[in-house]
Amino acid sequence: MPKNVDLFITNAAQILTMEEGLGCVEDGAVAVHDNKIVAVGKSADLENRYSGKETINARGKVLTPGLIDCHTHLLFSGTREQEYLSRLNGASYLEILQQGGGILNTVEKTRAASPLELLLHGEKWLKEFLSFGVTTVEIKSGYGLNYETEKKMLEVIQTLKSKTAQEVVPTFLGAHAFPWEAKKEPEKYIKELTERMLPDFRHLAENCDIFLEKGAFSYAQADLILSAAKKAGYRLKIHTNQMNSLGGMELAKKVGALSVEHLDQLSQEEMDLLAESEAVAVLLPGASFFLQEENWAPARKLLDHHIPVALSTDFNPGSCPCANLHLIMNLAVQKHGMLPEEAWRAVTINAAKALSREKEVGTLTVGKKAHLVLWNMPNYLYPFYHFGKNFVEKVWALPGK
Ligand code: NIG
Ligand code: FE
Repeated sequence: MPKNVDLFITNAAQILTMEEGLGCVEDGAVAVHDNKIVAVGKSADLENRYSGKETINARGKVLTPGLIDCHTHLLFSGTREQEYLSRLNGASYLEILQQGGGILNTVEKTRAASPLELLLHGEKWLKEFLSFGVTTVEIKSGYGLNYETEKKMLEVIQTLKSKTAQEVVPTFLGAHAFPWEAKKEPEKYIKELTERMLPDFRHLAENCDIFLEKGAFSYAQADLILSAAKKAGYRLKIHTNQMNSLGGMELAKKVGALSVEHLDQLSQEEMDLLAESEAVAVLLPGASFFLQEENWAPARKLLDHHIPVALSTDFNPGSCPCANLHLIMNLAVQKHGMLPEEAWRAVTINAAKALSREKEVGTLTVGKKAHLVLWNMPNYLYPFYHFGKNFVEKVWALPGK
């Protein structure tokens, strides 16, 4: 007698398990029970062993793990299209920040927003992510830059985590920029961060991130903050080597960072350091594109160094107001020289690694969560070829605990 499971998807043209390379199974089937994957294999083999309370015939379609966006700033208030116009007229991203705009523009609006406004905004964008098959989303704070608003953001992220269809991973980014009131006494803000915010917010966020950049935080400041965060039990992420190189790879190795993100300016020496560290390289081609950067992260070289490469939207109101992870995969192939197979890995298993979720999601493996996407396309190359079209037909996602 075949075992009756909750969901049985059969006859898929391709199942990308992502276990080794694409781990492609042609004419494949997947059985799901109690929200876990219980079998993956050829339809002909599984059809005798399983029947589904719900059965889906995926003929001519592709089934993949749920996509993972491991770096977003999706909670914010207000938009910055006027600054975009200033950039088109020659102002740089860092100049705008130094003049009190950029991140600080969004901070002003986010401080003024009510938790409900932020919640509705967050729900709206999470839905948009879901429409692209994204079932795990990291969300950073970082538009409060004081105790009260950073807490408000993290609490809203917690509410989103408990309410939305996807799994939400919260990251504390109190060190995104210095707030204007701290410009004269930066040490005071660092003290507030390390002595009050980090310990008090530990139950609200699992990762701590920092923007290591000219006009944001220096190496010494980042070292101090990340070391304190590590002691408090956070996993560490670093926005680094976006416009300038301030020793981010050395710091990542020293503090044992989970990931280093952006990497548009990366020397051979830094790449060697990165290869010796535990960090995943998270590339954000949407930001390089939207900021019209000359240098794009050397993805090909990173991959040749066997450094795990993840891709993410970096969704935020300044450097990438685009939530389309498929477009990011296209950019990675067209502009970073990645292969389609590498782009798929970068938004599944490698993105899971960048969030320390690789044991739960990122591949279609027996025992993992049933985060699945059914794509109405005949093979894995299709979205790169017919770029600009969303082929996602159905998504199965589960919120985190
Ligand atoms: O990753 N670089 C710093 N943070 C974001 C941008 C945030 C913003 O401009 O609002 C980024 O690009
Ligand atoms: Fe970012």
